[in-house]
Amino acid sequence: MNPLELAGIEKRFPGVVALDDVDFDVRAGEIHALVGQNGAGKSTLAKVLTGLESADAGTFSVDGRRVRPRSPREALALGIGAIHQEVDLVPELSLAENLLLGREPLRWWGIDRRELEARARRALAELGVAVEVRRAAKDVPLGEQQQVCIARALSSDARILIYDEPTASLGIAEVERLFAHMRALRGRGLAQVFVAHSLEQVFALADRITVLRDGRRVGTFVANETNPRAIVEAMLGAALGAAPERRAAPAGRVWFEARGLARAGVLAPIELALAPGEVLGVDGLVGSGRTELARALVGADPGVHGERRVVGAPVRVRSPRDAARVGLWLSPEDRKVDGLCLGLSVRENLALGVQRRARFAWVSRAAQTELAERWIRALGIAATPEQRVGTLSGGNQQKVILARLLAAEPRLVVLDEPTRGVDVGAKAQLEARIAECAERGLSVLFISSELDEVMRRARRVLVLRDRRAEVELVDADVAALRRAMAGGAMAERGTAEGRDGE
Ligand SMILES: Nc1ncnc2c1ncn2[C@@H]1O[C@H](COP(=O)(O)OP(=O)(O)OP(=O)(O)O)[C@@H](O)[C@H]1O
Ligand SMILES: [Mg+2]
Repeated sequence: MNPLELAGIEKRFPGVVALDDVDFDVRAGEIHALVGQNGAGKSTLAKVLTGLESADAGTFSVDGRRVRPRSPREALALGIGAIHQEVDLVPELSLAENLLLGREPLRWWGIDRRELEARARRALAELGVAVEVRRAAKDVPLGEQQQVCIARALSSDARILIYDEPTASLGIAEVERLFAHMRALRGRGLAQVFVAHSLEQVFALADRITVLRDGRRVGTFVANETNPRAIVEAMLGAALGAAPERRAAPAGRVWFEARGLARAGVLAPIELALAPGEVLGVDGLVGSGRTELARALVGADPGVHGERRVVGAPVRVRSPRDAARVGLWLSPEDRKVDGLCLGLSVRENLALGVQRRARFAWVSRAAQTELAERWIRALGIAATPEQRVGTLSGGNQQKVILARLLAAEPRLVVLDEPTRGVDVGAKAQLEARIAECAERGLSVLFISSELDEVMRRARRVLVLRDRRAEVELVDADVAALRRAMAGGAMAERGTAEGRDGE
C-alpha cells in the first residue's frame, strides 16, 4: 500500500485531453520525478494531486483509502502539501502571514504576531533564508517569494509533498539547500513528487522518474537503471538534435552603452557596452542584482542614475516606454506581474507587442493572425492564434512572451531567465531563434541561472555579486563562472548541482 496511488486519471479541458488514462504512484521515502515537454500535463497532474483541479475519471487513493480532494485545504487535510509552478502568495500580506496562512498561532486576543513571526523565521532559517518576514510579499524578489512558498509547504504536517518546478527562480546555493532538505525528508519517510525540466536535477534527486507525453504516461523508470538520454527520448518521442554553437563576438563598434548605471541602495554603478549582434551574459547568485540591473536598463524602476548611450548619443530612458522607443526591451523574470494579458488570445498579445513599439500602428486582423501563426511555428508554441494565453501551460506562456518581444523587432533585448520553465527541446529552439536574431544585429543581454546555457551563448559574461559588478569573464568555463559568482566561497565544487548537497 503506497501513500499515494492514482489509476486511470483523465482530465479534459475544452479542446485538449490534458491527462489521458494516467497511472501514478509514490512510495514512502521516495522522490518521484515527473518530467515531460511543455504542455505534457505535469502541472495538471500536480493540480489533481493537490485538489486544485478534479479529475474527470480515475481513482485516487491515500494510504489505500479512496479520496477525492476538492480543494488544496482538503488535500492538506489528507496530508498532501504543494509548491506550485507559479508563486501564489497574497501580495499585500507579509511573508510571515503568507507562510502560516490558515494555521496562525492564536491567543485569546487573536493572532499571536510575535509567535507568528518567530515561526516563520524558523521555517525560513531551515532553508537558510534570511529575509525580513514582516515585509509584504509584493516587495520582495521572486526568488525569495518562492522560498516562502517552499517553507510554507515544508513546515506543514504534510506527508506527501508535490513540487511543481520549485527551483525555477532559485540560484545554485538555494537549490542545493532545498535538495538537502528534500533528501532529509525522504529519510523521514515522506513521499515526494518533483516536477522538473532539468534532468541534471532529476538525476541528482529522484528514485523513480515518470515521463508524460501529450497527457499520457510513456513510462516509469528507476533512476539508476536509466540515463538522461533515454529520458529525453521518451519525453520527445524522438532523438534530440544538437545544440547551436557558441557564436564569435562581433568585433568593433559599440551599439549600446551604459555608464554609471545605478540605483541607490539597490545597485552600485555599473558600466556596460554591447556591439550589435553581441550576446552578453549576466550572472550572479540570487539577490546579486541581476534582475535589478535588467530593470534599471529599461527604466522599469524609479530613481535610476547614470547614462545610456545608443551609437554614442545619450538617450533618455525614464520608463520602459522610453526604452522601447530606442529599441530597448525587457523580457521580465516574473511573467505573471509584467508579462502577459492572460485573458487575451495569443494573437492579441503579440499584436499588443507590435503596437507598443509604434504607438499608432494599426495592424489588420489578418496580419495579426499571420504574425501569430508565424511565431507559433517559429517557437513551437503549443497553441492556436485564438487560444487564451491563460489556458497555456507555463512553458508555452514563456514562449509567447519571447515571441511578443521578438515580434516587436527590438535592437537590444534584456532577457531575464528566458528559458525558465521551458523544456529541453524548446530550449534548443529558443536558443537557435535568439542566435538568429543576434546574427541579424540584435544585441542581447542574457541573464540565466543555467550556467552552461549562458556559456554556450555568450563569450563575455558579467558577474554580479552583492549588487555590484564583480568581474567580467571572457571565454571562461562553468567552474570559473561559479567561483566568480560565489566570490571564492564555493570554489571547486562539483559540477552536478545538488549532487554534493548532502
Ligand atoms: N485551465 C485550462 N484550460 C484549458 N486548457 C488548459 C488549462 N490548463 C491546462 N490546459 C492545457 O492542458 C495541457 C497540459 O498543461 P500543463 O500545464 O499540465 O502542462 P505542463 O506539463 O505543466 O507544461 P509546462 O512544462 O509548460 O509547465 C496544455 O495543453 C494546456 O494548454
Ligand atoms: Mg507546468
